[in-house]
Amino acid sequence: MRGRMLRLKHLSSLVSGLPGAGRPSAAASQSTAYTIERMCGIVGYVGERNSLDVLMGGLRRLEYRGYDSAGVAVIDDEGEIETAKRAGKLQVLADELERHPIHRGGTGIGHTRWATHGGPTDRNAHPHLGDDGRLALIHNGIIENFSELKDELLAEGFAFESETDTEVAAVLLGREYRRTGDLRSAFQAIVSRFEGAFTLLAVHRNEPGLVVGARRNSPLVIGLGEGENFLGSDVAAFVEFTKRAVAIGQDQIVAITADEVTVTDFDGEPVEVEPFEVAWDASAAEKGGWSSFMRKEVSEQPEAVANTLLGRVVDGQVHIPELESFGDDELRAIHRITVIACGTAAYAGMVAKYAIEQWARVPVEVELSHEFRYREPVLDEGTLVISISQSGETMDTLMAVKYAREMGARTISICNTQGATIPRESDAVVYTHAGPEVAVASTKAFVAQIAALYLFGLHLARVRGTLSETELGKQLAELQSVPEKIRTVLGEAEHVGELAHWMADTRSVLFLGRHVGYPIALEGALKLKELAYIHAEGFAAGELKHGPIALIEPGQPVFVIVPSPRGSATLHPKVVSNIQEIRARGARVIAIAEEGDAAVLPFADEVLRIPLAAPLFEPLLAVVPLQIFAMELAQAKGLDVDQPRNLAKSVTVE
Ligand code: G6P
Repeated sequence: MRGRMLRLKHLSSLVSGLPGAGRPSAAASQSTAYTIERMCGIVGYVGERNSLDVLMGGLRRLEYRGYDSAGVAVIDDEGEIETAKRAGKLQVLADELERHPIHRGGTGIGHTRWATHGGPTDRNAHPHLGDDGRLALIHNGIIENFSELKDELLAEGFAFESETDTEVAAVLLGREYRRTGDLRSAFQAIVSRFEGAFTLLAVHRNEPGLVVGARRNSPLVIGLGEGENFLGSDVAAFVEFTKRAVAIGQDQIVAITADEVTVTDFDGEPVEVEPFEVAWDASAAEKGGWSSFMRKEVSEQPEAVANTLLGRVVDGQVHIPELESFGDDELRAIHRITVIACGTAAYAGMVAKYAIEQWARVPVEVELSHEFRYREPVLDEGTLVISISQSGETMDTLMAVKYAREMGARTISICNTQGATIPRESDAVVYTHAGPEVAVASTKAFVAQIAALYLFGLHLARVRGTLSETELGKQLAELQSVPEKIRTVLGEAEHVGELAHWMADTRSVLFLGRHVGYPIALEGALKLKELAYIHAEGFAAGELKHGPIALIEPGQPVFVIVPSPRGSATLHPKVVSNIQEIRARGARVIAIAEEGDAAVLPFADEVLRIPLAAPLFEPLLAVVPLQIFAMELAQAKGLDVDQPRNLAKSVTVE
């Protein structure tokens, strides 16, 4: 018990309650007839340890997946099911467990939740019970046909305590359990009846020492231990204990005991599994002394890029073994690339478009995943679809990838999470090695995504013969110098911090960029919206005169990403003229410009310097002060930068 208390104390220092944190979202506070789950974190454990310790530790690492309520169910050493669940952040549950401890037990399941409709209440939190409280179940996803299943159960006289789709699954499972007396068979009997997306985990008091799970369109990974086994939404749930993992495939059921793991399809046919080694440590998912995950992850960007390049540049050549299934002939035959992604990942795609088109001379279009699928895009075997996703679980992107494959396109995934669903649904994956990204707003994954896409672009250029060996070598050297240059930019963080604190009352900020600076302007605005809840917009600087300039009034802060004067002969003077135009109308100009660019000095109120880099590599540097600015401004406003209101890290519904 002592150990557990210590664990919970430790939690309280990590899951800090900054003002503004943990409030239910506007959407979540609306009252509707039912509750659906948007995305959640799931942990399961069987072994010798006190399962509650494992569950709470795992949930803390998964809290980024959802954070409006949390709950656990443990089969205690007496064979009874004990549950605790609370609305609010994980700390609320931890406090509840301190006040009302539950007994020791080696089998348990735990859950953090993020709901889109209906109140995040204690009652709607997971686990939900079935079979008169003998069974506990947790769920990630949405069971779309839950209402007809619920009607069926109501007609049979079953009662419900919550409005969730999850409780319907718990009650249905309980009904089947009474028939079969076996948790695995009961799962098998119900899972095919669900439509939508789900990961389900359940325990039954009659079968202590067993956790059974199933998944469709929602993630689940097994952690293989010695005399213990784990389940998690991703490997962060258990990496503290084991690095051997197995990703569960689509439409599969898994059962873990302390000594055994079995995986079958929905019909009960055994499935071969392939364990993999998790490439990062538990400490990588901890804050490691930083005040927030965001601050830590911003500071890790040099390593995120360096590790993504590691082993992929050999003797001055790009070497991506993961792409071996794409033969050179196939890469030469590509006549178009479509990049699909959401949020920050889509901006990484926009940056890469400039580089891939310039180097490999293939047209690249970038489309938001949720738009792509619904407009009947033109796809054929000459189209390469590249998806970008930090989590590898974003449902909009997953569905777009599946659609692209159905239409005959070849697909490559750029992803940061091993064993995630999108890479598994793609023809090949190039992993970014940014390490676990926990803060909701993406930072280090963004620079790692650009680095991976640039490697791919240079590989393509070599195969297609569009760049000379010398030119390729030059670009690769530039890419390899990026980590050190990001380090230099991070060295200026204090100056950016002062600026942000000084601007804490700002109500609106504009961002201008051109060429590769344009997606960076969009990303700068997104960061400020996400973290500081300030109205922000990014524009292509050339578009200014076509409308946005009307927004400029005295005192309006405008960040301008200034292209290098050593790049295109026309771009730099044009952006400098843009600065003059807005300055003449009273804008407060903050220029991000390379060292030694004196042309901006007479017109800018502030200049944030970045080291010299070839034009295509500037985005990897210019984005850093914008991330820091948003983070510092949010902190100056007392906001929780790791878990901004209304947002979730991976959005696993469309
Ligand atoms: C959410 C997050 C964003 C992220 C986007 C795409 O909206 O809040 O920070 O950029 O999803 O996520 P992915 O995991 O697919 O990169």
